[in-house]
Order: sequence, then structure tokens, then C-alpha cells
Amino acid sequence: MRRGRRSGLFTMVAVHSTVRGPALGGCRMWRYDDARAAVRDVLRLSGAMTSKAAAAGLPMGGGKGVILVPSDQGVPAGELREAVLRDFGDTVESLRGTYLTAEDVGTSADDMAVIARETKYVTGLAVEHGGSGDPSPWTALGVQEAIHVCCEHALGSRELAGRTVAIAGLGSGGERLAQACAQAGARLLGADVDDRRRAAAERLGARWVTPSKALEAEADVYAPCALGGVLDHDTAPRAGARVIVGAANNQLADDSVADVLADRGILWGPDFVANAGGIINISVELEPEGYAPQRARERVRGVGQTMRLVLSDAAARGVTPLAAAKALAERRLIEAAAV
Ligand SMILES: NC(=O)c1ccc[n+]([C@@H]2O[C@H](COP(=O)([O-])OP(=O)(O)OC[C@H]3O[C@@H](n4cnc5c(N)ncnc54)[C@H](O)[C@@H]3O)[C@@H](O)[C@H]2O)c1
Repeated sequence: MRRGRRSGLFTMVAVHSTVRGPALGGCRMWRYDDARAAVRDVLRLSGAMTSKAAAAGLPMGGGKGVILVPSDQGVPAGELREAVLRDFGDTVESLRGTYLTAEDVGTSADDMAVIARETKYVTGLAVEHGGSGDPSPWTALGVQEAIHVCCEHALGSRELAGRTVAIAGLGSGGERLAQACAQAGARLLGADVDDRRRAAAERLGARWVTPSKALEAEADVYAPCALGGVLDHDTAPRAGARVIVGAANNQLADDSVADVLADRGILWGPDFVANAGGIINISVELEPEGYAPQRARERVRGVGQTMRLVLSDAAARGVTPLAAAKALAERRLIEAAAV
């Protein structure tokens, strides 16, 4: 954790694990009440990245970056934004490749280009700068694969034609997922707290509903694609779909919610398995042949195989998909540690 010499703001990086490779994780620019809250967040998020990369079988560990915006200040813009991004670049550089950064909530591919002025340990640069670009389409592709596999497991076929899919959160990931589901012939319900998303949803033929209607709808699939913590002991008992799988990180308020969903006969596809498409795409940048979209597509489709492995292991051992996914990540960490 450092106070930036240009901006005076705190930037921090948590390296949770390098057992499988360099710690990869996005840089979040976010408002926090104090430094302790930011440290808690960066530590928690870095641990989740370790599980995500390990479950996906990537040669990478888990890390995360945070740029702490004091809660009484606006989001940095102009010169201050450039200054703090370069300060964050210094923090990344000081770790000499132990940590690789990428875009995350509050940062963009353009911001990555500014960070790259201070360090080469940056991924997800725009395609015209030699990077793998916006991760959202890849995340959406991975989630789509995960939905197919979850439907096959819980509903008997992977087909989406004629099924109802309720998507909550129609931002960069959710809207692309909605497009893909519409193309596959699904009936869509779309929800977002931002009414400006309504026109895009309706263009795709989605019926616009409130976020709580999307949760409660008797749909085949509910796809949470907004913020974390959407499933807790109050909302999980009200969920109406038979399958829940989506792009949002940390969908469960705590692990015990996985049991509530399983007890109600709802198949929950673990979020860190389903939404790994973005980092899988980034990992292709690090392959010896360099980045190629075709290879990225093949690798991201692997999300479906990982989900299948998790669901069959859960069924065979009589545990929740969450327990099976955590065990898979743990096994892959232990294997790598042994090597
Ligand atoms: N984009 C990626 O590549 C990627 C990768 C992995 C995980 N994720 C996760 O997926 C989620 C969405 O990411 P994104 O990039 O699409 O973000 P985004 O900011 O582009 O979109 C999020 C959308 O959710 C809406 N929203 C916020 N609160 C809501 C609520 N309570 N109910 C309904 N809608 C709500 C917002 O208005 C916005 O339109 C996040 O949890 C993110 O961490 C994204």
C-alpha cells in the first residue's frame, strides 16, 4: 500500500497466491470510508481471484488492486485521474511481475494504457495497443456456456430455445448475455436499476421487469449480472428459477446460502466458475504465441467443461456445486504447489 507521489491518494495491491503463476486481478477504483475498508476489500477480492483462476485451470494466481477514492471526493477525472493511475502503475511495478493488473469496476482499457506508462505488468490493453481488449464479451460467452451446461444438468437439455431467462443487470456483461440468449431463442426478462437500460432490453425483445420480479419470476434461468450479494437468506427463499447462473461476482452473501438454494432444488452454478471468461481471455495474452481471438474463444468455451466437472462431482459426492467448485480450486492449488 502506497500513498501516490503524484496524486496523494492511496493505491494498494493484494497478492493472495502465486502458487499457479503470477497473481492476476483487476484494478478497482472505488470510494471507501477509510483505508481499513479498502484493505478488507482488496484482500477479499484477491482471494476470490485465486479460486477463479485455479478452478479454470489457468497458470495464474490471484491478486487485486484498489485505488482508494476518499468517500468525500468525486471519482478522479482529468489530471488527477492520470496522476493516480500512474501512481498505481508505480505500485504494480514495485512488485516486479508478481502481480498483473487488468481493468475492473471503475477502470477502463484507456486507464490501463495510462498505467502501462509506468509498468509493463498490465493486461487487457485495447486491441490496437496489442492487448486482449474489453473482457465483457468473453465473460458473457463463458456465462452462456455455463447456462447451457446448468440447463442440461437440471432441466434435461442444453437448449435455450423456448426457455425463459431472467437477467438482472444489463451492463456490459448482462447486455451481451441477453443478446446471446435472444439469438438462441430464449424468452427474456430484463431488469436493471438504471432505467436507461430499458430501451436496449426491449430492442432485444426482453420484457422489462423490476430486479425483484426478475429474481422471483418462475423462469428456467435467473442470471445475476449486477453487483454481488444478491442472494442472501431473505432473497434466496424467494428465487423463482430452477437454475441460477450469471456473471456477477460474489453472488452469495455467505456460503450457507448455497445450502438454502440446494434445499429448494435450485441449481446454482458457482459464480467464480461461470464468470471466468474474462480472465481466461486475458490469460491468452500470456501464452507463448501471444493473443489470438480464435484461441481465446476455444479457451473460454472451456468454462462449460469446468462447470460440467463441478456439477457431476457435486452430484456424485452429494455436496453443493459451491463445495465442489471450491474443492476443485483447492485440488488445483495443491497439485501446483507439489510441482
Ligand atoms: N465485465 C466483465 O468482464 C466481468 C468479469 C467477471 C465478473 N464480472 C461481474 O459481473 C457483474 C457485472 O459486470 P459488468 O461489467 O457488466 O458491470 P456494469 O457496471 O457494466 O453493469 C452492471 C449493471 O448492473 C446494474 N445494476 C446495479 N445494481 C443493480 C441491481 N440491484 N439490480 C439490477 N441491476 C443493477 C447497473 O445499473 C449496470 O447497468 C459485476 O459483478 C462484475 O464484477 C464482470
